[in-house]
Amino acid sequence: MKRIAVLASGRGSNFQALIDAIRDGYLNVACAGLVTDNPGAYAIVRAREAGIPVRVIDYSLFSTKEDYEAALFSVMQSLDVDLFVLAGYMRILGPRIVREFSGRIINIHPALLPSFAGLHAQRQALEYGVRVSGCTVHFVDEGMDTGPIIIQACVPVFPGDDEESLSARILEKEHQCLPWAVRIVCEGRFRIEGRRVLVNEGNDTKNIAPGDTAHRPGKDRNPF
Ligand code: GRF
Repeated sequence: MKRIAVLASGRGSNFQALIDAIRDGYLNVACAGLVTDNPGAYAIVRAREAGIPVRVIDYSLFSTKEDYEAALFSVMQSLDVDLFVLAGYMRILGPRIVREFSGRIINIHPALLPSFAGLHAQRQALEYGVRVSGCTVHFVDEGMDTGPIIIQACVPVFPGDDEESLSARILEKEHQCLPWAVRIVCEGRFRIEGRRVLVNEGNDTKNIAPGDTAHRPGKDRNPF
């Protein structure tokens, strides 16, 4: 069975989506640990409830970013996992970590990349005035939110939206896309050609375009 670890800095609702997907048997992986830079992260409570080991690397206790990264690097190595999932991890991973675990780190971002990379993606989308936004799960490379895209799903942006309402609509898609992407990656059902991640979809998507809500099957975890 493949082993994953999750890096999260806060609320951890995407982490919870992974816990639930493992519990329901949708994801046949073991979660070997939660790593967090924030001792106050609610994700820690979720990990404890699910019996998942927690490693806190409190960013505020390190005098330099390099020292923090060195501690994170050794924790990541010691976890001995196939895949690291950044689920609301609010820091940029340094090049040493990205290189060491190349192809084995994925991230979820609350916008349709390459639009609105970085912080406050939902606010950026609203301020820009886009009519559609969404989420992206991608491999992590040395840039900021620039790695090859595994899956995207879109949501409408309504005239009355504020950051909170748009974030909530996107979050629902995030909770579907992240388990889906972890499953595809852990089952090895993809290959990368240049920037393109070619997914062997099997029966998972039935070739339905992302965001085509008319075909959305409802309760199952298919994000399309
Ligand atoms: C999500 O919107 C994720 O896309 C972004 O940070 C947020 C984390 O939410 N990177 P949660 O901690 O998973 O609830």
